[in-house]
Amino acid sequence: MEEYYGELCTQIYETNKSIAGGEELKFHLSFIKDKNTQVLEPMCGNGRMLIPLMERGINIDGFDLSEEMLSLCESKARNLNLKANLTHCRLEEFKSVKNYDLVIIPFGSFSLMPDELVKASLSNMRNVLKEGGKILLTVMTNKGPVDEISDWMETNRQIIGTDEIIEYKKVGFDQKSNMLNTKLKYHLVTDGHINKEELMDFPVRLYENEEFETVLRANGFRNFIRHDVANGYGSVNSFQVFECGK
Ligand SMILES: C[S@@+](CC[C@H](N)C(=O)[O-])C[C@H]1O[C@@H](n2cnc3c(N)ncnc32)[C@H](O)[C@@H]1O
Repeated sequence: MEEYYGELCTQIYETNKSIAGGEELKFHLSFIKDKNTQVLEPMCGNGRMLIPLMERGINIDGFDLSEEMLSLCESKARNLNLKANLTHCRLEEFKSVKNYDLVIIPFGSFSLMPDELVKASLSNMRNVLKEGGKILLTVMTNKGPVDEISDWMETNRQIIGTDEIIEYKKVGFDQKSNMLNTKLKYHLVTDGHINKEELMDFPVRLYENEEFETVLRANGFRNFIRHDVANGYGSVNSFQVFECGK
């Protein structure tokens, strides 16, 4: 069955991307002045970033289109005696009467927005940003030739309780649109039998150098600072963050 961040995908994601830490967390924390700072995290997923911020007493609201991801986030918060402020919503449709000092989308998630939804998505975030507020966005960038995978290839296998979840991938790259088109397949295996299959299309927009800043500028953002967060995802793995205001 075709799903987007469904049950099996969510469980695999949680096994190695449960909680943000290190330089990535430190970087985001450095933008939060005090306990009055209101933060919004669109595409918050399993609360990888939202939960460590909540644990530090930060006022943060999150939303996501995946009910599975949101329910995992909610239960992780509950286990810490925290109540997560979460909404089930798509970024391209998001509206709120509440305004925020800081809007963050870590981990390249904004690259999941297809070109035709970028304008509405940016505008929805801009609309809830306070005067003087900031947006911190990460996108996935084009780092040269992509290793395409034409036939299903096993890419992950995790034992969860008495079950095993196996992930398979196919990857293609469309140079014209700069789209990395990944197909994912998850099998839930119990006692050697496939109990459930989940299929997922996972298109990712890769941005060229400077391109994303041009997109932000065209959508009314200004005062850009591009940060290179060295060792952001652990040693050697650096990433870029686009900071801007309106
Ligand atoms: C890779 S996860 C990353 C989650 C989080 N940003 C993090 O740092 O771990 C991407 C999330 O984006 C969500 N997502 C994708 N498209 C979305 C959309 N149009 N609106 C809201 N959420 C979306 C997915 O459901 C998924 O939970």
